[in-house]
Amino acid sequence: MRTLINDITKKEGEKVELKGWVDVRRDHGKIIFIDLRDRSGKCQVVFLSKPKELYEIASTLRQEWVVKITGQINKRPENLVNKDLATGEYEVLAEGLEVLNQAETPPIDVSGDGYEIGEDHRMEYRYLDLRRSRLKNNLKARHRITKYVRDFLTEKDFVEVETPVLGKSTPEGARDYLVPSRLHHGKFYALPQSPQQYKQLLMVAGLERYFQFPRCFRDEDTRGDRQPEFTQLDIEMSFVTEDDILNLTEELFLGMVRKLYPNKKLKLDANGRIPRVPYKEVMEKYNTDKPDVRGDKNDPDELAFLFVVDFPAFEWKETEKRWDAVHHPFTKPKVKDAAEFRAVFEKNPGEIMADQYDFVLNGYEVGGGSIRIHDPELLAAVFEAMGNKPEDVREKFGHLLKAFTYGVPPHGGIAPGLDRIVMILQNEPNIREVIAFPKTGDGRDLLMGAPSDVSKEQLKELGIKIAKEETEKNNG
Ligand code: AMO
Repeated sequence: MRTLINDITKKEGEKVELKGWVDVRRDHGKIIFIDLRDRSGKCQVVFLSKPKELYEIASTLRQEWVVKITGQINKRPENLVNKDLATGEYEVLAEGLEVLNQAETPPIDVSGDGYEIGEDHRMEYRYLDLRRSRLKNNLKARHRITKYVRDFLTEKDFVEVETPVLGKSTPEGARDYLVPSRLHHGKFYALPQSPQQYKQLLMVAGLERYFQFPRCFRDEDTRGDRQPEFTQLDIEMSFVTEDDILNLTEELFLGMVRKLYPNKKLKLDANGRIPRVPYKEVMEKYNTDKPDVRGDKNDPDELAFLFVVDFPAFEWKETEKRWDAVHHPFTKPKVKDAAEFRAVFEKNPGEIMADQYDFVLNGYEVGGGSIRIHDPELLAAVFEAMGNKPEDVREKFGHLLKAFTYGVPPHGGIAPGLDRIVMILQNEPNIREVIAFPKTGDGRDLLMGAPSDVSKEQLKELGIKIAKEETEKNNG
């Protein structure tokens, strides 16, 4: 039966069978050492010059070969203990060796932290890149975080619901990724920028407490904290106030940090709470709506959460010459009803405030949310104020307005960005380090080779012609 490498510390004197990869081989003439690696860790294996056959196979081993080794676990002499290794007080004296698979020399070094290796190389060989313990630890940490969140929210009566990826565009301020329909030529699905409308429809459906880890898609320029596809922790609740949502978010994240990252120092207010600061005050004091309020910005273990509250509802978009929602058009402006909204918007659109909040951590926006408009008349008025003609409103949002005529509870929610949070907790400089298969800075998947050309047949089936090809043909 296989023993995991990190468990050898509990089996001194016993014979074990280990399986894994050759991390390094060190030849000392009459004695060969290899470091063997599996998912749990690394240990040293020793091959003596006898038995000869065993020694000879061992001398052929190369880095990253996959092997099965049987042997006895011995304590190392005091002066040979390796303090950098969890198994460093022990070693395995090999008695059997089987090569399960040979390996080419890896094109990138997988033993170090890998920061110095070119991004393109790491992405092309991501399956090797992920062999390094730093990245494996990031994926494990991410898993522990999502597990904590699932358990916490399940305990609080939330239901995890999946919503469609092939859907209709919901405005979140970015460009949509579109998917052409084969059965309906000329029509397109939009990949969700977030499940915003679906989660609101789940409130109409009476779920009351929803969460999901949805994949969101936004065709915008990639940055260190931005990927074209990313994961949110999406939450929506009925019959709640802004305070209820912020309290839940606070309890969830403080509890998670205390349990999973006990060594982190939380910077909280005098009452041990996450500060809630109005947008105006934050802008006046820091000149940004996502300030880094850590006491010591060089301390990688300090966490300074902040809720920015009381946002203005609308901002002037000079390029489009219209007022747009600061968050999204579903956010509730602080007005009594549609009539009051129309009156105030006419005079002072910039002064209308919203029941809206951002969640900030160490200078990053790690979440955003709001109380929603649940009055269909007010919702229609807001859509129109933002420059949509009544017939466009019906075309784009008719389904939601209709749903809201069948008994919609007051509701609101929040969506922390999972990748950004894991990045900060793991002290990584970039969200690519905490995503298994991320896209490069210019949106490519170098491992699979996406985006890629597709066959003429596929295009024909979809009723699509590539304009560039036409131009080239005409020119040539
Ligand atoms: P918002 O658009 O503010 O709100 O997004 C919520 C959070 O998602 C993260 N995020 C991203 N992370 C990585 N790459 C990206 N390209 C990216 N874009 C956003 C951020 C951000 O704070 N539906 C609303 C939420 C709501 O109202 O409940 C929404 O999506 O951490």
